[in-house]
Amino acid sequence: MLKRLIVAVAGASLALTALSACGSGDDGSGSGSGKLVLGFSQVGAESGWRTANTKSIQEAAKAAGVDLKFSDAQQKQENQIAAIRSFIKQKVDVIAFSPVVVTGWDAVLKEAKAADIPVVLTDRAVDSDASLYVTFLGSDFVAEGKKAGDWLVSEYKDAKEPVNIVQLEGTVGAAPAIDRKKGFEQAIAAAPNLKVIASQSGDFTRAKGKEVMQALLKAHKDIDVLFAHNDDMGLGAMQAIQEAGLTPGKDIKIVTVDAVKDGMQALADGKFNFIVECNPLLGGQLMDTAKKVKAGEKVEKRIVTVETVFDQAKAKEALPTRKY
Ligand code: AHR
Repeated sequence: MLKRLIVAVAGASLALTALSACGSGDDGSGSGSGKLVLGFSQVGAESGWRTANTKSIQEAAKAAGVDLKFSDAQQKQENQIAAIRSFIKQKVDVIAFSPVVVTGWDAVLKEAKAADIPVVLTDRAVDSDASLYVTFLGSDFVAEGKKAGDWLVSEYKDAKEPVNIVQLEGTVGAAPAIDRKKGFEQAIAAAPNLKVIASQSGDFTRAKGKEVMQALLKAHKDIDVLFAHNDDMGLGAMQAIQEAGLTPGKDIKIVTVDAVKDGMQALADGKFNFIVECNPLLGGQLMDTAKKVKAGEKVEKRIVTVETVFDQAKAKEALPTRKY
């Protein structure tokens, strides 16, 4: 209990530090340096993907001469809403954010619109009216889930027996969790012997992925495949599989999404079987988009990231030059 309280207090103070850091030295009228001022609210630091995404945005801002006001929401929607309100108060030029969940953004987006500050969605979508943001820059998560399912359909095309799949979903209510599940289930519907026997959230983290997989291994003795919505949950589950005396990649095949270095290493080592790439390097495109929006230029309403897939051989080839 005490430990939980300490963690909660530390978390809240970190979030406040992040928020006050974004306002430091600000006179309420942008940076005053003539630079474009971009307020960015990040989901958190829940995965290797997220760390790479944050680095990409911070480095790209520096390279583009953009004054970036960065806030880490620690996976809490209320922190993101507070950060966006703070950006509005500071009169930044453009607000960008990667929404932790899909719902609940209408009020704050209307406040940004009333303040005449354009909003760019990066990485994840919201279910608000599209007139409340300028563009959405990021992956097609349904397509990612579909690619994972298509691989399994082809991998098990000659299987006569049922193939039992467990799914580790991302954060409840987050666009990538909803859409990857949808795309995956659409794809495997083509093969009636592929069956999802259990599906639970692992919150996109390695620790939760391990914990949920431990429970799933106890409840189901006949798991053939794990589909994890990101590498980190897959890596946590991989540990649980090993600790249960099974061989990941063989006794239980593992399919994930992201293709961050640790995931790619597991794939090259034969512990994962297939990864669908989700590209976190959105910084450059975000800075270009923010500049265009500020200059009043037209931008596409949807900018989709280009991505690939990796099997074990392709992972071995790609690893030495992988940037994240
Ligand atoms: O929104 C992108 C997803 O969020 C990534 O797949 C996952 O790793 C992250 O936490």
